[in-house]
Amino acid sequence: MTGNAQAYHSSYKSGIAQIGFSFSTLISDNGQPFLEMSVKQFEVSIDASKKTFIVNEGESVLTAALRQGVMLPYSCKNGTCGSCKGKVLSGEVHYPFHPPLALERSEIAQGMALMCQAEPMENLVVKVREIEAVRDIQIRMFPARVIEKKTLTENVVRLRLKLPKAQRLQFLAGQYVEVLLSGGKRRAFSIASCPSLEDEIELHIRHVDGGGFTGHVFDELNERDILRLEGPFGNFFVRNDETNRPMIMMGGGTGFAPLKSMIENLLEHNDRREIYLYWGTRISKELYLDDLPSQWAREYDHIHYRRAISDPDSLSVVNEFTGFVHEVVIDDFPDLAGFDVYMSGPPAMIDVAKHVFFEHGAQERRLFYDSFEFGLDVPVRVLARPH
Ligand SMILES: Cc1cc2nc3c(=O)[nH]c(=O)nc-3n(C[C@H](O)[C@H](O)[C@H](O)COP(=O)(O)OP(=O)(O)OC[C@H]3O[C@@H](n4cnc5c(N)ncnc54)[C@H](O)[C@@H]3O)c2cc1C
Ligand code: FES
Repeated sequence: MTGNAQAYHSSYKSGIAQIGFSFSTLISDNGQPFLEMSVKQFEVSIDASKKTFIVNEGESVLTAALRQGVMLPYSCKNGTCGSCKGKVLSGEVHYPFHPPLALERSEIAQGMALMCQAEPMENLVVKVREIEAVRDIQIRMFPARVIEKKTLTENVVRLRLKLPKAQRLQFLAGQYVEVLLSGGKRRAFSIASCPSLEDEIELHIRHVDGGGFTGHVFDELNERDILRLEGPFGNFFVRNDETNRPMIMMGGGTGFAPLKSMIENLLEHNDRREIYLYWGTRISKELYLDDLPSQWAREYDHIHYRRAISDPDSLSVVNEFTGFVHEVVIDDFPDLAGFDVYMSGPPAMIDVAKHVFFEHGAQERRLFYDSFEFGLDVPVRVLARPH
């Protein structure tokens, strides 16, 4: 037993909601009380479902909700993607780290809040979307051994990671894992392989200029090295409540990774919903697994594949330029009202596409995305610029 308070876990006693305080007793591993202190707590209730959960002082609404099995939508968890946006109907929140980047001033004035950053200052009633399907999946930490590191193109490597025996990772196709680094840092990567793959997962990692972890992956990580992971996370997965709706899947760069997992999973389950897959990169060389979707499109009538190359100056093939990937989607389908839209990739792409797709009839409740934001520890001024 160490004297370090972090070696102790806390258990909470007494009623909470009415008074907003409880006594928290830190209990040592041998069961003895270690330290008693008062922790402020707030009750958050969800307007539509009337579900309630408790948020500790210093905790975000999202973290507390997930801890208590209430699944709210989220993606970046650092305040930049807007996935966790909801409305505070009563009560007040504050943002201790930085202003809510993904909120317009007008939205703040209307009471909108980013649940991943907002901390309650009193009990709250909130209006948020709830996710049902991921609730039962257990999130856990596990080591994983690199069994293959393969360069797919100049700036993308594929890692195949072996999980410990008898520790299969249960996840929904489209979810992501976080790589745990020293100093509490974490880096998110979507799982590119199908959930049915027994004890292995695949990640597609793009090299970020000046990026600490991705630089390490490219320059130093070797086969047989061990990474520590936690997951699965996220609510980017195929919805099965309206299976008559065709799907548009749009990936930018390594945003192809979760879409690959989704499509392989749908194929495996013999789900023949119409899929229109669009994969956008700057130059065609960056379509690092182009043969795979081409092969799907050849083999299956319900899968359609179009590439979108955005840099007109770097063409190796005449007439290859097609523009930004969301423009290609709109060219094909100016009215998106009847589609389920799934998109993943760079935040700048997601941001623009969201606006454009809504203008073209996409329904907010049928548009799902994972925005590939940087980690929480990256400075605000870097998060705020397009990348
Ligand atoms: C849900 C989700 C899923 C994702 N899935 C994938 C995926 O499948 N594949 C993929 O390739 N990516 C994915 N990403 C993105 C991926 O997590 C990031 O690219 C990754 O976090 C970069 O980590 P890094 O340590 O290499 O970069 P960092 O070291 O975090 O650097 C990021 C950027 O910030 C700059 N920076 C960092 N610190 C400073 C500082 N102190 N001062 C100035 N500048 C600084 C760096 O130069 C760099 O430009 C995903 C992200 C999310 C949120
Ligand atoms: S802004 Fe909250 S999850 Fe991205």
